[in-house]
Amino acid sequence: MKVINKNQFIITYFNLYGVKLVTQSTQEESLLNRYGKTLRTDRWWFEPLLVGIGLFLFIMYSTVSAAILGNYWSYEIGPYLSPFFEPLFYTDVIPKWVSPAIFILWAPLSFRMTCYYYRRAYYRSYFLSPPACAVREPANSYAGESTVPLIVQNIHRFAMYGALIFVPILWNGAIRSFYWEGEIGIGVGSLILTLNAFLLSGYTLGCHSFRHLVGGGLNSFTGSKYQVIRKKVWDMVSSLNAHHKKWAWSSLIIVGFSDLYVHMVAAEWIVDFNTWGSFF
Ligand code: FES
Repeated sequence: MKVINKNQFIITYFNLYGVKLVTQSTQEESLLNRYGKTLRTDRWWFEPLLVGIGLFLFIMYSTVSAAILGNYWSYEIGPYLSPFFEPLFYTDVIPKWVSPAIFILWAPLSFRMTCYYYRRAYYRSYFLSPPACAVREPANSYAGESTVPLIVQNIHRFAMYGALIFVPILWNGAIRSFYWEGEIGIGVGSLILTLNAFLLSGYTLGCHSFRHLVGGGLNSFTGSKYQVIRKKVWDMVSSLNAHHKKWAWSSLIIVGFSDLYVHMVAAEWIVDFNTWGSFF
């Protein structure tokens, strides 16, 4: 910020990567004190729009596939089980219209919905708060996440423990997909489910809360062997964390695609190329 005089400043806005977005004076700023106004000339609206559409499509698809259709659209074929239904929770006591996915999906969903990256993304896309850096937002004040209802976002650090349980569970499903009727083999579905477990691991282990868990609360990284080990783990988590947005999107897209792929093979809409032959 550059001070011109007591009443006028020049403010320059930069994005996360240090790229200059716009420079404006306080005089201009007061003229721009209306929702949606900005001096930015780049396509600042493109990313929030894309994110809004992407999240909407995923929420619609996953709700229909996992919650509404549930037992009415096969989610299992041969050695493949859709990750939306992993681990399979099935009992005769539950009526058929109740999807087994709803007993498990609350854990990964609460983790994703409260993720720091997704929060930023959907606050921008759906609440326009703010729509982008240096773009006027509708609200005149900002209470943050310290009051109701957004204080609930703080459950993220607890949801993380639930999500960590799903990392070995999904790897178990991926490894199982290489074994069918006593024979080790490989299919396109095995590769997709393995990619899904890999991306899910990168997303979960790069979580900001997990980074704090492994490296937080220490005054020094060098005092003891234990601290040195924690530093090494913290470095690995930090390198994942630096690309958290990419892990978030790639894992979201692939988990949805894995589910769709298993459904399509089970419904005989497509053929799975594999070493076992047909599953039917
Ligand atoms: S911050 Fe994104 S998963 Fe924790």
